Amino acid sequence: MAAPILLEGLKRLEYRGYDSAGLAVIEKSGVVCQRSVGKIGALESELAGADWQGTSGLAHTRWATHGSPTLENAHPHCDCKKTIFVVHNGIVENHQSLREQLMSRGHRFRSETDSETLAHLIEEHYQGDLEKAVAQSLPLVEGAYGIGVLSSDHPDQIVVARRGSPLILGAGDGEFFAASDASALISHTRKVIDLQEDDIAVIYSDHHEINNLKSQSILRPSRTLAWDVKAAEKQGHDHFMLKEIYEQPEAVCNAMRGRAVGSEGIAKLGGLSGIEDEILKMKRLCIVSCGTSYYAGLLGRYIIEACTDIGVEVDLASEFRYRKLNFTEGTVVLAISQSGETADTFAAIQEARRRGSLALGLVNVVESSIARETDAGIYNHAGPEIAVASTKSFISQLTILYLFTLFLARRQNMSMAEGQSFIRELESIPEKIERILERASEIEQIASHYTGYKNFLFLGRKFNYPVALEGALKLKEISYLHAEAYAAGEMKHGPIALIDSNLPSVCVAPQDSTYEKTLSNIEEIRSRGGPLIGVGTEGDETLRKLCNHMIEVPATQEIFAPLLTVVPLQLLSYYIAKELGCEIDQPRNLAKSVTVE
Ligand code: F6R
Repeated sequence: MAAPILLEGLKRLEYRGYDSAGLAVIEKSGVVCQRSVGKIGALESELAGADWQGTSGLAHTRWATHGSPTLENAHPHCDCKKTIFVVHNGIVENHQSLREQLMSRGHRFRSETDSETLAHLIEEHYQGDLEKAVAQSLPLVEGAYGIGVLSSDHPDQIVVARRGSPLILGAGDGEFFAASDASALISHTRKVIDLQEDDIAVIYSDHHEINNLKSQSILRPSRTLAWDVKAAEKQGHDHFMLKEIYEQPEAVCNAMRGRAVGSEGIAKLGGLSGIEDEILKMKRLCIVSCGTSYYAGLLGRYIIEACTDIGVEVDLASEFRYRKLNFTEGTVVLAISQSGETADTFAAIQEARRRGSLALGLVNVVESSIARETDAGIYNHAGPEIAVASTKSFISQLTILYLFTLFLARRQNMSMAEGQSFIRELESIPEKIERILERASEIEQIASHYTGYKNFLFLGRKFNYPVALEGALKLKEISYLHAEAYAAGEMKHGPIALIDSNLPSVCVAPQDSTYEKTLSNIEEIRSRGGPLIGVGTEGDETLRKLCNHMIEVPATQEIFAPLLTVVPLQLLSYYIAKELGCEIDQPRNLAKSVTVE
């Protein structure tokens, strides 16, 4: 029976977008469909009494873009006759004109969504062959889509297609799946087939066919997912976010595995083989990314510039295209993205390639759109990150940026001894993160003192400035408290006006080359009565005395400190959000893969 499998798949995908959900199953009597607003639990309750026997179906969780999260706007959407049902990820950019044309030909719309146009468009072309109708409709669509289509006239088949939105097939034992994300089908099969742009596939219970838009048959290879269902489950933790924070020592090891060669003090990056010459000619690196991945990029700038003579720029992917960048010879663009599906980052990388630049990717999700669009890249191998708030993928991105720095620096002026010491220090990080994790209950205690505040300031300098930014983002995302981050030196240029007993400051101040200066900023806050949480080096009694609360991290070379200092900030946000009763893994208004620009 399809319904329980679809519901389970929806639950595993709930983290991606979840203001409403629905499913449709082909029964003997025709297609039955149930939708509901809110979490999957609501849909599940509504389905409690249903006795659906059908073995083919579609399901969807929606994150509202066009039209508010109402029942009418929830997927699946259907045609006028309620025979063709569609689920859609992405955006139909020309939906307004399509809707007008379709309405003028008598189609009746029931929702405000762009997605519903697809159901009517397919109905318009349908003459007995569902796949053909889909193939004829899609060239009329501008925008991005990952779609699933079923019809009561074809109970044995489901048609799926993609452009600019992820979609994979899963081959089970006598059953076949399609999903936008592997975690939806991982409990049934690890054998997947990645669909490529403009592929249309028809899946049956025991086989599949893939065609292009011109109905030419295509063969796509299958691969086995490198992780199993355990990676998509909480494993005893209260939340995926906490589980993923605890997976960080392993994420560092996984990112380094087979890449850091301690004896020679070098980094081997297999994903870059074949283009090493081009990379060695690189004079300027432009990093493009969003959110947490952007902060990883900001740190990348500090570390690459500290160890090489390559100039690094970091752009928010959403702003990248608005700059009139001069792509001089030797400019390389690096996209950083956990999901590999972020529309802004994807568009930035497309633009870079159009302008003739070499495009590299630092991506977690294998075979994702960004991974495919780049000329070469490095995978995180961090396993699936389910919580919306990024944690382990940030640590993993940083680890790879350190390796990339080593890769570049050893081809410039870094000596073998320096390279060896670089790797030794990086190798010591997982154990040091473990030591911070052992202090989780202490951090939970500290968090309990700060749940009554509404605003927070995060401060850090040099390598720890991006950490402050990331700390503030984490708090905002999961606790809905307002948090702003500043470079500590910038505080006196304005934000200091805010300081009073109602504004706690979280100061990242390990004992590094900027320590003394940051201490002065902390003194300034203290003298104005601002509550202080310090994140500092183990045994730093000076910082402890200045702050109301202090969280210690083990000592390391200053360049590597962010791998440690960010961990207490993640835990602090987590425990504040938990105490406030927030939906930690699924914060309001957010989705894991932001596939709209
Ligand atoms: C933060 C967060 C988002 C993402 C951003 C980029 O916790 O999850 O800010 O970092 O949407 O996503 P990716 O890395 O998938 O491109």
